[in-house]
Amino acid sequence: MLTVFVVVVALVSQTAAHYTPDWTSLDARPLPSWYDEAKLGIFIHWGVFSVPGFGSEWFWWHWQGQQPPDQKYVNYMSQNYPPGFTYPEFARQFHAQFFNPDEWADIFKASGAKYVVLTAKHHEGFTNWESPNSWNWNSVDTGPHRDLVGDLAEAVRNRSLHYGLYNSLYEWFHPLYLIDKKNGFKTQEFVLQKLLPELYNMVVRYRPEVIWSDGDWEAPDTYWNSTEFLAWLYNDSPVKDTVVTNDRWGAGCACKHGGYYNCEDKYTPGQLPTHKWEKCTSVDTLSWGYRRNMKMNELLPLAAIIEDLVRTVAFGGNYLLNVGPTPDGMIPPLFEERLRGLGDWLEVNGQAIYSSKPWRVQSENTTVPVWYTSKGLTVYAILTAKPPMSTVKLLAPKASAITQVFLVGNPTPLSWAPVNPGGGLVVLLPELPYTPAQAWTLELDLVQ
Ligand SMILES: *[C@@H]1O[C@H](CO)[C@@H](O)[C@H](O)[C@H]1NC(C)=O
Ligand SMILES: *[C@@H]1O[C@H](CO)[C@@H](O)[C@H](O)[C@H]1NC(C)=O
Ligand SMILES: *[C@@H]1O[C@H](CO)[C@@H](O)[C@H](O)[C@H]1NC(C)=O
Repeated sequence: MLTVFVVVVALVSQTAAHYTPDWTSLDARPLPSWYDEAKLGIFIHWGVFSVPGFGSEWFWWHWQGQQPPDQKYVNYMSQNYPPGFTYPEFARQFHAQFFNPDEWADIFKASGAKYVVLTAKHHEGFTNWESPNSWNWNSVDTGPHRDLVGDLAEAVRNRSLHYGLYNSLYEWFHPLYLIDKKNGFKTQEFVLQKLLPELYNMVVRYRPEVIWSDGDWEAPDTYWNSTEFLAWLYNDSPVKDTVVTNDRWGAGCACKHGGYYNCEDKYTPGQLPTHKWEKCTSVDTLSWGYRRNMKMNELLPLAAIIEDLVRTVAFGGNYLLNVGPTPDGMIPPLFEERLRGLGDWLEVNGQAIYSSKPWRVQSENTTVPVWYTSKGLTVYAILTAKPPMSTVKLLAPKASAITQVFLVGNPTPLSWAPVNPGGGLVVLLPELPYTPAQAWTLELDLVQ
């Protein structure tokens, strides 16, 4: 029995794909299926930048990195902090004293999301875990004195959500990075001494199923050793079979190489892309990180979030919706309200979203805007506005005598009539239940 087992294992491992460190090989890796099925993730930007909570998570760069500095940040600091106050001093006020990972994970679960992506390290270089390569600039040595990445991992996984980590390749002010930059990226001091050891360690320690790479654009992928890292990730890492990555692995990689494509922040294609993609966007339209002076009219309304999710899924994308927690570890209640509202809508309409595929037609706007998704012979028509009358006209579907139409959440089949012999149908709607989401789903059981 044992010898049979050994032989079988040997055969299996021989047939498993082996990737070489070049884009032709790496780009050919099939994306693990859980990712496309998941459709919705929650993005979390949390770090020392949450402490000033002013402008955005790019605070440090705007204040002291870019030339000339942004006067808005310079003035804010000179008016509110003593002369000589440095950015690293903010870390002491990153207390996370109210951080309850179970409460966060409950909110994420209630949103209907299937994965969560936390900033393990943003461009400021501060790690939300005890990185041995980030001495005194991590959440265990300073600030919260806590393994934020690990504590959230446990709570998220306990609710059967996939856990991913955002990692910035570059660090604005890391001395080794600045040396390499000065050398036109002909040297790799930062990559070999800091970035790679830290990244390998992070993967082995936390087994993230998404690596959301960022901060790649100043240097080519050869500087970052991206293909070598990805070959290891896909061949030998503890997450080789389930991990997905994005496309930010060096200047020119976006929308071209890697796993799924982010292309650019808040990317919104106008037609169906040919490669799996993800739209990342933020409830606070002006920032990814927490802003203390955020105003309600700067937030995405729930109906806009749902419309955006539906459009993204109709175009074959995943939707990664960001919230920025406070330095105390609270998810602002207005963000929580949006997430729970999204989950309430998905509770009823999720069958049109999760595991769906783009349909032959992505949208039409005959009576009201309609977005299509599909599952086998079932087509979902999601209305993102309330029709002015009690009927809705759909021109794209080709119905037959035995086609059945339902309002999702309502078991009674709806009456409908053909528009013309070539296709299209007019559906008689029941009273549409009120929903702050302003979106209703028709299920069309077509036989074609
Ligand atoms: C989550 O934690 C509870 C309580 O400790 C445990 O009973 C349950 O099995 C865990 N579920 C998962 C999916 O890890
Ligand atoms: C980085 O890439 C070079 C080749 O480009 C390779 O020789 C080296 O071993 C790589 N180092 C790591 C740590 O991946
Ligand atoms: C649908 O059509 C209406 C009326 O022409 C227009 O105002 C609206 O912007 C359109 N919506 C979409 C999503 O194309």
